[in-house]
Amino acid sequence: MASAYDNMDIQQLEYEISTLEDEVARLKAQNLSLDMARGKPSPEQVDLSRPMLDGLTSVSDLTDGDVDVANYGAPDGTPSARKLGGELLGVDPAQVTVSGSSSLSLMYDVVCHAWTHGVMGETPWSKQEKVRFLCPSPGYDRHFAITEHLGIDNVAIEMGDDGPDMDELCRLVEGDATVKGIWCVPKYANPTGVTYSDEVVRRLAALKPAAPDFRIFWDNAYAIHDLEQPGDVLLNIFDAIAEAGSDNLVYAFASTSKVTFPGSGMAFVAASAADMADLRATFAIQRVCPDKLTQLMHTRYLADLTAMRGHMARHAQVVRPRFELVERKLKAGLGDIGCARWTHPKGGYFVSFDGPEGSAKAIVSLAAELGVKMTGAGATWPYGKDPRDTNIRIAPTYPSLEELGAALDVFVVCVKLVSARLALAARS
Ligand SMILES: Cc1ncc(COP(=O)(O)O)c(C=O)c1O
Repeated sequence: MASAYDNMDIQQLEYEISTLEDEVARLKAQNLSLDMARGKPSPEQVDLSRPMLDGLTSVSDLTDGDVDVANYGAPDGTPSARKLGGELLGVDPAQVTVSGSSSLSLMYDVVCHAWTHGVMGETPWSKQEKVRFLCPSPGYDRHFAITEHLGIDNVAIEMGDDGPDMDELCRLVEGDATVKGIWCVPKYANPTGVTYSDEVVRRLAALKPAAPDFRIFWDNAYAIHDLEQPGDVLLNIFDAIAEAGSDNLVYAFASTSKVTFPGSGMAFVAASAADMADLRATFAIQRVCPDKLTQLMHTRYLADLTAMRGHMARHAQVVRPRFELVERKLKAGLGDIGCARWTHPKGGYFVSFDGPEGSAKAIVSLAAELGVKMTGAGATWPYGKDPRDTNIRIAPTYPSLEELGAALDVFVVCVKLVSARLALAARS
């Protein structure tokens, strides 16, 4: 993208750079310590769920339907938790398992199941010569870390405005039996905020993979995390699969991490009946039963999807001003220069920012020098390698509005200085 810096003559650029360097020196002297790195809910958001803690006391009825929540049993989760998971993921509760508090742990378990025992009786991935996973990028670093950790080859594919590059995806999935999976965050993707279009969901559901043990890892982490109403509407992938006459194609995930208390909630996995039976055979070895008291506490407080959406509307009231501040500060600081672009998500937890080619590492490192911690540049690509070194993930939810404003002011100066220096370097 051509910026105002590209149109300046060398003298103007040198003057601009020296002014920005003075600004950097002033900011450095403030000894700031601000964090825009991780997508954590703010304390105000977490506090919204405190009343849930009063829901269980020493005299509470500890049964859910015919399940004794206080004892072993119900390995797939309480009836109410599975019903809620079914509503959240758009699937029959019989096809939902609720276990632990982290969906990422469930994803890891499911990949490990395929790795050690194989998907539905196929050769375990660990015994196959090559296993590749598609990683729409920019994407979620912790997804890529799971497959990288097991020695699976992560293959980046471009993320567009309505989902992954479907032509490339179909070519790879349908033409190459070593491609075993794809990481998808279909609604308010981390970090782009993109929601997959109906056409993308339909094309995914109609895939004819070359590998019988190919699965879509459908991480619907932000299913109900709308910032405004109406929020984006994601087509139900299970319905699309049924329409396409396919089956056994998707493992879907969600959790209450960014609904109630991260690390102390419920995580869900859903799949076709056959895939779920296959997964449960492994889960049965791994665990006796889940934390049903947590499930009971949650489902008494948030009994159905309507209650969950009401709760998330209160989250939105806290989060929306932060996203608005990001938009205002970036537009005011960078809008006229044209050296960067960023996303304007209607939900989720992130804004995805792209500076000029070769700028991201330098921006993040300069921001760190000035006391502002950002997600590492490159983290949104497999192996931490952003081929153009442009992408930076902004996580605005955790800091207070005041801290966020201060951090964004620093960020804008860093972007300007690095971009101006790159423009000058391009002249010499
Ligand atoms: C896309 C996505 N999936 C999963 C997680 C983690 O979820 P959990 O806390 O359920 O493991 C995150 C957290 O940032 C995320 O962005």
